[in-house]
Amino acid sequence: MTDHCPRNILQRVLALRSMFSKNKTYRHFEERFRYLLDRRRAELEAGVVGEARCIALIGASGCGKTTAAEQLFSSQPDLVIDQPETSRLDVASLQVPSPATLKFVGQTTLMSLGFPLRRDRTAQTIWDMVKDHLRGRQTLFLHYDEAQDLSRHQTPKEMNAVVSTLKSLLQHKTWPVGLILTGTPELKKMINHDSQLARRVYPIEYPQLNAALDTGRVCKLLSHYAEHADLPLDSETPLPDLAQRLIHAADREFGLLIEMLVSSLEEAMTANCDMIRINHFAAMFRKRTGCIDGLNPFIVEDFERIDPRKLLGGDIQE
Ligand SMILES: Nc1ncnc2c1ncn2[C@@H]1O[C@H](COP(=O)(O)OP(=O)(O)O)[C@@H](O)[C@H]1O
Ligand SMILES: [Mg+2]
Repeated sequence: MTDHCPRNILQRVLALRSMFSKNKTYRHFEERFRYLLDRRRAELEAGVVGEARCIALIGASGCGKTTAAEQLFSSQPDLVIDQPETSRLDVASLQVPSPATLKFVGQTTLMSLGFPLRRDRTAQTIWDMVKDHLRGRQTLFLHYDEAQDLSRHQTPKEMNAVVSTLKSLLQHKTWPVGLILTGTPELKKMINHDSQLARRVYPIEYPQLNAALDTGRVCKLLSHYAEHADLPLDSETPLPDLAQRLIHAADREFGLLIEMLVSSLEEAMTANCDMIRINHFAAMFRKRTGCIDGLNPFIVEDFERIDPRKLLGGDIQE
């Protein structure tokens, strides 16, 4: 390391943040999406209209759902998503708005398809317009992030209306649209609310990291990121111990673990160190949670007794 100016640090951290680590769940998600995309394209070519399907990617906050969906859509070379020279939009992706009334979700979906908000229409008319525009833009998939919000605070009647609207997209007679729903485990409540919808959903769940099974994998991740940051890991800290503390600190969520790892590397860079040590992880955790040393999993001996989710504030960073 020769240059330690803050700008250089920011650039190095940015480069680390833009790294994407594929895990088993992501590969599964990508494989399912590819299958449905290829199937739909084959149907279009053959002039056949089949029913579309839904993939539900489910996991706790911080596991990496939003990042996985962004990575998936941006890494498929044959998807047309952000090309101003064409009206074609293979995937429309949006976060469920709040409040998630059927009408407002429809209006926001319409906006994400490039059409202005129409307040003067009924929910039914708005969704009819959504379906017309999905066809107009040749959209094959609609992605809703934070999809559990579609069912939050809904009466049974409203829930029925949401579910039948989703089904009507999948079962459209001339232009069926596949759904990608990413959300927390609450999303299962909505899917299971209706057996006809459940039958059309392919669920993929993000498992939490497990200290017994994943320590080796996390050790590799630590080494990989340290290498990219050009900051070797201090040999005094046993790597498996550090990995287990990190798994615990991140409340066993994959994405959060990477986020903490990158912030710890940033701590080492800012401190002008040419190595990364456990005290950089401790500093990262202290900054993030404001906790005392007695509750810092990178400081105390019996770190398993600490409840990280409580310290991180329930719904992490969202
Ligand atoms: N596969 C990955 N590789 C690298 N970083 C990731 C990965 N998945 C998630 N992250 C990071 O983890 C953090 C949380 O991810 P996010 O997608 O927001 O989680 P969720 O949507 O499940 O709450 C983000 O800072 C993101 O950059
Ligand atoms: Mg998210």
